[in-house]
Amino acid sequence: MQGSSANNSALPIEERYHPGKEVYRRLHEESLENPEKFWNEHAGIIEWYRRWEKVLDDSNPPFYRWFVSGKLNLSYNCLDRNIKNHRRNKAAYIWIAEDGTEKIVTYRGLHKRVNVLAAVLRDLGIQKGDRIVIYLPMLLEAPVAMLAAARIGAPFSFVFAGYGASALSERIRDSGAKLVITSDGGFRGGKVVELKKVVDEALQETTSVENVIVVKRTGTEVDMVESRDLWYHDLVADRNDYVEPEVMDSNDPLYILYTSGTTGKPKGVVHGTGGYAVWVANTLEWAFGPTEDDRWWCAADVGWVTGHSYIVFAPLILGLTSIMYEGSIIHPGPDRLWKIVQDYAVNLLYTSPTAIRTLMRYGVQYARMHDLSSLRVLGSVGEPINPAAWQWYYTNIGKDRCPIIDTYWQTETGGFVMAPANGISLPLLKPGSVTFPMPGIDPVIYGEEGAEVKPGEKGYFAIRKPWPGMFLTLNNDPDRFRSAYFDKFNGAYYSGDFAIRDQDGYYWLLGRADEVLNVSGHRLGTIEIEDAIITSEEVAETAVFGKPDPVRGESIVAFVVVKDGFTGDLNLGNAIKGRIRETLGPIYIPHEIHFVSSLPKTRSGKIMRRVVKAVALNQVPGDISTLENSVSVDEIRDAIEEFRKESG
Ligand code: PRX
Repeated sequence: MQGSSANNSALPIEERYHPGKEVYRRLHEESLENPEKFWNEHAGIIEWYRRWEKVLDDSNPPFYRWFVSGKLNLSYNCLDRNIKNHRRNKAAYIWIAEDGTEKIVTYRGLHKRVNVLAAVLRDLGIQKGDRIVIYLPMLLEAPVAMLAAARIGAPFSFVFAGYGASALSERIRDSGAKLVITSDGGFRGGKVVELKKVVDEALQETTSVENVIVVKRTGTEVDMVESRDLWYHDLVADRNDYVEPEVMDSNDPLYILYTSGTTGKPKGVVHGTGGYAVWVANTLEWAFGPTEDDRWWCAADVGWVTGHSYIVFAPLILGLTSIMYEGSIIHPGPDRLWKIVQDYAVNLLYTSPTAIRTLMRYGVQYARMHDLSSLRVLGSVGEPINPAAWQWYYTNIGKDRCPIIDTYWQTETGGFVMAPANGISLPLLKPGSVTFPMPGIDPVIYGEEGAEVKPGEKGYFAIRKPWPGMFLTLNNDPDRFRSAYFDKFNGAYYSGDFAIRDQDGYYWLLGRADEVLNVSGHRLGTIEIEDAIITSEEVAETAVFGKPDPVRGESIVAFVVVKDGFTGDLNLGNAIKGRIRETLGPIYIPHEIHFVSSLPKTRSGKIMRRVVKAVALNQVPGDISTLENSVSVDEIRDAIEEFRKESG
């Protein structure tokens, strides 16, 4: 670990960035000009069983393959490698339950748990290449399951515990999983969230799953299906196995993580092993500059890519101590997050703009209740961070001495692609800007016609050259991999986001350019929500869009037309919300549902969501000359006006 930031962290930020500015520039330039040399050196962050023959095979774009023929195992790199040295008795995780109970698991303890579960999985017939689904809340068993799968070479697909039954079954079907690891439930905000029930329902729609392993957490009553369902604690009791790690190829899949795109079907983003590992470990070092004794707290859910890369793989490869917190950051009170920072002397805190805005709303007095002087670096991810939230975080939490590391990346990119490189040399920060690319990233902003835009002009964010953390493909859909990401800008990777590069060369990421919503940092497809609403028998048609929200970033608004014979009222609205909770999960529930008698359409019958959104947000709807019925526009306006009056 470089730890350069630790050495000069007493200096004010403005003075700190100057000394090594050139170091970053040189490193970034070298990474693009001589990637062979650069990655030959930086891949050394991983211990390989066999060295790669070639850094990059770019003979079949966009199917780039990194560290060709290199052999490694990530469970080995996260565990065995650390227990061979001074980290044997170091805490890998300090896990904190919502009720305050804590569990500390050392690298040695984690190694043991992972080996036992790996042996159990083998006993249940899981072999290299078989897929498993993990549907767990924030429990230690989550990283244990991911690492056990990695140990035996079984690609896993983690399904965030906030998803409902149909979302889960779709992911099980698409991944072809043979086994599911879940829990009876989880605790969140003082309530029990039941999970096993959701699995039972999801499995009615799938055929591939042979066994379900159930972790006991809440003690909730669950149905255990004979010979299919097994208790985790029974399976691991009195075992002390060692499982030889499978020798994996650099380009063998490590996991599949489903994310939303612009059509109804979620995309199964497939990450490989070698390039991914090299990327997540290096980017964590470059962006945050952790040192050996740091406590790192990535306060995301382990079920999202942020948790995969920066709760599990990167910090373990680097041998760090991570905080893992089970529950809600405002339970039992709005000072919970700050209390954890104080109690565990967190040094590096990585959270989301929604969390910051939520805590900001509650007020700085809750932060002042606790000693936050252990903090050295503050991170942000998931959405654009507005300058006001940035400033609040910087001044009130970091006391003007902790850099804000705003990291821009995506499920597809594997790890950070844009972020201030505090571990190399901190740039002067601008509130709301992600600053500059990570080494290896060649960003470009294109206009509609495919030409690069000028500084200060808004355009589409893309990355010209491949980088080691990029996904291998989309599960079962290589054609969509190409068409969704690489066709729009002539082979460059297209992110789906808008961005600006300013006159000083700083990048500003501005949010999605496509029909994907970002609600509290959750990436949701407009069409997924519309598809779920339309399955209600009362509904004829619907249009869903995101409305700017001061805390969540965006909130979900749905306009719905009911079929003849049905009434669009509060009851129906609640019924629709209830069904979405069951099928897609609570994160997808619209915040507003408005009933209208028709929606604006083109003459060919296509619903004009753009017009619905513009009218509802009181903006100019643009060209509406192709509109079939202008009456609907007035109705939308009236519905919004009515809503405004009612909600005061
Ligand atoms: O719109 C961007 C936004 O989150 C999207 C990626 O979502 P997901 O794949 O779920 O991964 C989230 C965690 C990496 C992006 O397309 N996004 C993420 N980080 C930022 C951001 N937008 C602006 N600034 C960020 N720092």
